[in-house]
Amino acid sequence: MPEDKALGFNMVTCSAPVNIAVIKYWGKRDEELILPINSSLSVTLHQDQLRTTTTVACSRSFEEDRIWLNGREEDITLPRLQSCLREVRRLARKRHSDGDPAGLSHKFHICSVNNFPTAAGLASSAAGYACLVYSLARVLGVEGELSVVARQGSGSACRSMYGGFVQWTMGQREDGKDSIAQQVAPETNWPELRVLVLVVSAERKLVGSTSGMQTSVETSSLLKHRAECVVPGRMEQMIRAVKKRDFATFAELTMKDSNQFHATCLDTYPPVFYLNDVSRRIINLVHRYNRHCGETRVAYSFDAGPNAVIFTLQEHTAEFFQVGGTFFPPETNGEQFLKGLPITGVTLSEELKEAIGMEPLVKGISYIISPKAGPGPCVMEDPPQHLLCPDGLPKKNV
Ligand code: DP6
Repeated sequence: MPEDKALGFNMVTCSAPVNIAVIKYWGKRDEELILPINSSLSVTLHQDQLRTTTTVACSRSFEEDRIWLNGREEDITLPRLQSCLREVRRLARKRHSDGDPAGLSHKFHICSVNNFPTAAGLASSAAGYACLVYSLARVLGVEGELSVVARQGSGSACRSMYGGFVQWTMGQREDGKDSIAQQVAPETNWPELRVLVLVVSAERKLVGSTSGMQTSVETSSLLKHRAECVVPGRMEQMIRAVKKRDFATFAELTMKDSNQFHATCLDTYPPVFYLNDVSRRIINLVHRYNRHCGETRVAYSFDAGPNAVIFTLQEHTAEFFQVGGTFFPPETNGEQFLKGLPITGVTLSEELKEAIGMEPLVKGISYIISPKAGPGPCVMEDPPQHLLCPDGLPKKNV
């Protein structure tokens, strides 16, 4: 890629999405290459609501690689960051072995921001590493299979390299070349699917997923059983359900898989707790609501934190949003309760409220984000909103 004459270096700005696993990844067979003990499947969320934006500048005049995350300079020597930089440079070298050294003697300045609070526990590392790898590849003119590189930043990041419904195949090889993400269906395949992210707590988690899953692999026999005997069948069923837009099957598998993941956390020794009392109330609420409706209209999924991700269909979104607001009423003068796609108000019947029969818990949920499934990473053009100034340093407001 030729240098931009005006800037004296190449600069590209990209954005990447968050993904929510409906068949969970938990446990590695290789810590360094980040190779999982089971395959997983996720839904990519729309970037209008949740995204990471990254600018990468690449210049011979930079003395060293540097990175700024959400306004603070961070340690570039972190092994996972180094793996991603090394792997993209290696791909660039391979691609440009014809003599065009496209930025190979250059250093990178990287600046990245999330449009959601990092501490809210919303899979920021997945969007972050996906965006980093995608932007680095773009600035160096590298194409091809990049999910293997993103995987080496954070396992779940490989699934954020695609939009819609994405599977991460665990692979068999020791070098990890077959441990890749692939799109199962684009988001347009299931436009009626809606998501509500119930943000329960904005506190940082006590045990991060990396160390949590390490202890689970070492101590949980349930995890071994799950990886070997349960997930392979579930992956097949889930792929079929997604392709057929079979919500009832999709929902049941999603809830069972989230529950089994948290059961393996409890089977870990010492145990790891990610769900809290509010999470458990949400689980009860969903089951009571579904039972009252006489069908599975809503599903929950929880990652390594207390926030609930609710999946439902367009036609039931307004009612379930109202159910959430009724049983977890927001602070009256607090911040906006709903962020994202608008939801029209509905009135709940007394019969429904009685059937659920739970005491409302004020402020149990801080706010709700309502996205749809969305597309994968993209280059921001027209005009690019770069996060770095022409001197290669972060703009004042980022
Ligand atoms: C519960 O991808 O954050 O969200 O590979 O160590 O970076 P590392 O872990 P990470 O784990 C995500 C775990 C999960 C389930 C999932 O996203 O599949």
